[in-house]
Amino acid sequence: MSEPIEIPDVFPGVGDVSGKRVVITGAGRGLGELVAHAFSRSGAKVALMARTERDLKSVADALPGPTLVFCGDVRDADFNEAVADGTVLEWGGVDVWICNAGISPIVAGPLDTAPEVWREVIDVNLTGAFLGARAAARVMSDGGRLIFTGSVLGERPCKGLAAYSASKAGLVGLAKGLALDLAPLGITVNVVAPGWFDSPLAEAWTSNDQLSEFILGHTALKRWGQSTDLAGAFQFLASDAAAFVTGTVLNVDGGYLLV
Ligand SMILES: NC(=O)c1ccc[n+]([C@@H]2O[C@H](COP(=O)([O-])OP(=O)(O)OC[C@H]3O[C@@H](n4cnc5c(N)ncnc54)[C@H](OP(=O)(O)O)[C@@H]3O)[C@@H](O)[C@H]2O)c1
Repeated sequence: MSEPIEIPDVFPGVGDVSGKRVVITGAGRGLGELVAHAFSRSGAKVALMARTERDLKSVADALPGPTLVFCGDVRDADFNEAVADGTVLEWGGVDVWICNAGISPIVAGPLDTAPEVWREVIDVNLTGAFLGARAAARVMSDGGRLIFTGSVLGERPCKGLAAYSASKAGLVGLAKGLALDLAPLGITVNVVAPGWFDSPLAEAWTSNDQLSEFILGHTALKRWGQSTDLAGAFQFLASDAAAFVTGTVLNVDGGYLLV
């Protein structure tokens, strides 16, 4: 007869991020701001990063816990390194780095997508995440967590969003590759792939009847993602309960990829 499974005295708290030092890019508004609130209200220290200082300061002022503000561009390798060093200087280390900054500047087919627009989307959404991960890996130790904000469009593209979809599909490959590379350091790498959330980035879709119909028609739960639906996925992956989860994509999409 085989041995019974070992039952631990204590299970790690699911989504417990209290005391963790968390960098969030694209935290000046939208989903990044939302996730910053969730982490801060759960007792984490949150370093906020985006280009617009006014937005970051206003988010920082509204958070209950300790914050840092780093104003700059995720495409800038030196800036990412400076965020890592600055967080270590202030808080002694980085436990979680959420590469969330993203853009979707155009809805157009390939002939109407200028090469510069393609490059900008890939630069911000994909290269920016790589540069953040690179800076994070240098300062993180065993137990470190890298989380990328992907998108269901990385798996099921919509017309006119090829650049965005390519960048988000690329993030999945990047996360899987880095999960292998960083496993020896005890750092996990995962993607949270939101479906369609009501946020400034999604305004073009929420206000377009035809697109709305398409999106909600494909969403099993028949509604847009709401503020309370998303942050738990990030908190789970950041918590000790997810220590054995790496190289995965956690879709938070109301079943968009099922229908
Ligand atoms: N909203 C949705 O329904 C949805 C669904 C799936 C995935 N997503 C993903 O979720 C993430 C956040 O989206 P969101 O809807 O919250 O967008 P959002 O409201 O437009 O916010 C984007 C944030 O990223 C920052 N950012 C943009 N470019 C940057 C750069 N080059 N360097 C540093 N920061 C930059 C912006 O601030 P600055 O402009 O001041 O820099 C802002 O704080 C994105 O990766 C997006 O692809 C969103």
